[in-house]
Amino acid sequence: MHPSQQKDIYNPSAVKELFNEMSTTYGVVNMIASLGFTIIWRKYVIAKLDRNRAPGVMVDLMSGMGELFSVIRSDLKPPEKLVGIDFSSKMCDQAKVEAGRNQFETEVIEADIFDKNIADGSADTVVCSFGLKTFSQEQQARFAKELARILKPGGQFSFIEISVPRNSLLRFGLQFYLKLFIPMIGKICLGNPDNYRHLGVYTGKFGNSRFFHEQVQAAGLESDYFEHFFGCATGVHGRKPN
Ligand SMILES: C[S@@+](CC[C@H](N)C(=O)[O-])C[C@H]1O[C@@H](n2cnc3c(N)ncnc32)[C@H](O)[C@@H]1O
Repeated sequence: MHPSQQKDIYNPSAVKELFNEMSTTYGVVNMIASLGFTIIWRKYVIAKLDRNRAPGVMVDLMSGMGELFSVIRSDLKPPEKLVGIDFSSKMCDQAKVEAGRNQFETEVIEADIFDKNIADGSADTVVCSFGLKTFSQEQQARFAKELARILKPGGQFSFIEISVPRNSLLRFGLQFYLKLFIPMIGKICLGNPDNYRHLGVYTGKFGNSRFFHEQVQAAGLESDYFEHFFGCATGVHGRKPN
């Protein structure tokens, strides 16, 4: 059954199937359809980290095809180790190729982020780009607890997600963009337009990162909420208290 026909769009197997199907076109569609904004936003999420701290052991949650790896390579001191984790086998295959370009130890784990493959208090730095939207609010609350569990005391984090802006004109533009423009680019790039339309459904339901921000605080972390480009991307960054 196509993921868009599943009753529960947040069912992990539906999400996994969606990304496995999109893996051949996701990179190029993402780059063209976002008019380069996803590249800027990936740099932005890394820029939100405190550069005075060594990245140490770094975890990239929902690492996809390793899209953040090149930004980590170019914009940060080399981490002691980088771990990417994603449950889509096809996305992980690409991430492993990208990991081969890193000059530092990199491991790509194919697993659900809720399966506790990262040890308690083992991460100095945790990052995540565009992984929040396919979570329901209940999953976001659990995810915030996972983040608190894997971070070392004093460890830092930075997350970003495409969001629905408050401005009604921009919101109207986003609807057009998600419902028509992205699926059209998906089709031109030989992807399945339904998958790209479906990705837009997740963004519409996600709204912005405020709920996640509250959950992160409730999990005991210090968190700041941020917006970029009039709220078209939102995120959180902060640290685990010592
Ligand atoms: C929109 S992609 C983002 C990929 C990448 N971080 C980027 O910057 O483009 C979301 C990724 O999250 C992964 N994902 C979603 N839910 C997951 C879960 N519960 N555990 C592991 N990976 C998950 C999907 O397989 C997909 O590769």
